[in-house]
Amino acid sequence: TPDDFIYPLFVREGKNIKTEVSSMPGVFQMSIDEILKECEYLVSINLKAIILFAIPDVKDSVGSECLCGESIIARTIKAIKAKFPQMFIVTDLCFCEYTDHGHCGILDPKTGSVDNDKTLEISAQQALVHARAGADMIAPSGMMDGIITTLRNALDENGFRNLPIMAYSTKFASGYYGPFRDVAESTPSFGDRRTYQMNPANRLEAIEESLEDEKEGADILMVKPALAFLDIVRDIRNASNLPLCVYNVSGEYAMLKYAGIAGLIDYERVMMETMIAFKRAGANIIISYHAKEVCELLRKQ
Ligand code: PBG
Ligand code: ZN
Repeated sequence: TPDDFIYPLFVREGKNIKTEVSSMPGVFQMSIDEILKECEYLVSINLKAIILFAIPDVKDSVGSECLCGESIIARTIKAIKAKFPQMFIVTDLCFCEYTDHGHCGILDPKTGSVDNDKTLEISAQQALVHARAGADMIAPSGMMDGIITTLRNALDENGFRNLPIMAYSTKFASGYYGPFRDVAESTPSFGDRRTYQMNPANRLEAIEESLEDEKEGADILMVKPALAFLDIVRDIRNASNLPLCVYNVSGEYAMLKYAGIAGLIDYERVMMETMIAFKRAGANIIISYHAKEVCELLRKQ
């Protein structure tokens, strides 16, 4: 049903901007006015949960843009909530879209790799920007150790005890994120994310990471990417009683989209089969670029 889904939206500065991403047909970078039109349509098809990503105009070494109360994400949340208070807004909390080096946190100048604990401090700041703007749930995606404890404490101490956290608890270092990095303009300028994302070969560590986030106080766990990791979804479903989300990522979407465009598959049929596979594996929530098309199809049935 539409309630199973969270739909990703990408916001950028400007007016009347709706730019399709060539690697993901049907997915757009939009300015706030276009995001509002999109939300109006989403609500009309009963798709009432979104996850917001921003592409800022200015990037620097620490991602300053996302730390101020008037950040693009903050302005977008306020604009949506003013018109569509029923829209449930999840915010992706990370730094790769905001840093000039494209990594998911602050770099240690000595080693050139991400400084986990310094990144935790500014993550708390970013979370409060989202919370104060009216976000309904915060989803940290940077894979920093201790992020859930840090955010839970920061939110609790600042009057947001009831604001839930959805952990990107098991996030693999994956080639399936390629098209996303085009749309979010967040490709690392050097190296890769293997020092903070997980090894796809390591099943037990994947389960451990999610259980660790549960202990730290996560409200919802997640497996990402989805399709090549459905065994892990089932393992975590069996090991935890928290709601479990899957992130059906950009590369997974692009594969079906382009196969459909090429006439190789019955796109709608394969899309629905894929969504059912997520549910069957044990997912309670699905983040997917297909969500809009799925909800349109559900209305026709
Ligand atoms: C950023 C982030 C990524 C995705 C969501 N948040 C990409 C990455 O880790 O490079 C991937 C989403 C997708 O591929 O659809 N931390
Ligand atoms: Zn990131």
